Amino acid sequence: MKEQLAKIRADALSAFENVKDAAALDELRVRYLGKKGELTAVLKQMGRLSAEERPAMGALANEVRAALENALDSASQKIEQAALELKLKAETVDVTIPGRQVQMGCRHPMNTALDEFKEIFIGMGFTVLDGPEIELAELNFDRLNAEEGHPSRDWSDTFYFDTDERVMLRSQTSPMQVRAMDSMELPIRMIAPGRVYRKDEVDATHSPMFHQVEGMVIDRGVTMADLKGTLTTVAQKIYGSNTKTRFRPHHFPFTEPSCEMDVQCHKCDGAGCATCKGEGWIELLGAGMIHPRVLEMAGIDPEEWSGWAFGFGLDRLAMLRYKIDDLRLIFENDVRFLEQF
Ligand code: DAH
Repeated sequence: MKEQLAKIRADALSAFENVKDAAALDELRVRYLGKKGELTAVLKQMGRLSAEERPAMGALANEVRAALENALDSASQKIEQAALELKLKAETVDVTIPGRQVQMGCRHPMNTALDEFKEIFIGMGFTVLDGPEIELAELNFDRLNAEEGHPSRDWSDTFYFDTDERVMLRSQTSPMQVRAMDSMELPIRMIAPGRVYRKDEVDATHSPMFHQVEGMVIDRGVTMADLKGTLTTVAQKIYGSNTKTRFRPHHFPFTEPSCEMDVQCHKCDGAGCATCKGEGWIELLGAGMIHPRVLEMAGIDPEEWSGWAFGFGLDRLAMLRYKIDDLRLIFENDVRFLEQF
């Protein structure tokens, strides 16, 4: 029996020593330490021993069991450790693998032009306003002195709502003048950029949606000289300090007198070229002194206050600035085009 125990110990220890995985280890555990295992089988024979022999054999058997259990423990730890190492190795991050390329965007040329424009006006004390693209016809037309029958109100030019023709997509940013007069304290200096909508066919210079910037000043003693001075300063900041401007008479229902401002072509200095279509001048914006009736409708006394306003097409400004010859490129958002800015 002593030999049997010694053999079990030797076999089991060497088996535990060399076991490679958890399943095999469990098999060994059952085989040596299980209820029907080799050690139990030997212990069952203890009854056959004499009373003198029994204690010594019992002690030996316990010692063997303890040794086997120890060996089982350390084998199990060894296997766990090996499994962990394998896992860590398999999950290592190779920091030398090149990363996935992230496409960097850039500002849209029109936003760059707008930012530059805002910067100039903010520097002159103007507030930047934002307003709704879905507008009341009352604000887009009536309050701007364009009453029923005015050609710009025509259904063929304007996106009215089918369900309620008092509501429309604003055809100009000018209703922001009214919104400013209704909500702001006087004096007012504001610009209001945003989208406007007209029933235009799409071509190189037209789109049913485009961008305007409205501007307005109302204060005591404001004159046409302020309009000319401010807008010439702005043109010179955009196109260079030697830029010349020219003001031509025009008509808008909400200004009196009204004018358009041209800048001398920055490409040919007025000689005439492809950019200015041989004119030497490029039309930049519409402007004028706010019509007294528009002030009155907003509850502002035209005897005490006066003001001027302007509105221009931001898309065209960006096109001129970045030499873009087709308006559609600005709206198509083709990355190959936008990447150039
Ligand atoms: N709203 C006009 C348009 O869309 C542009 C304009 C002209 C705005 C004169 C003004 C202005 O504020 O004073 O054609």
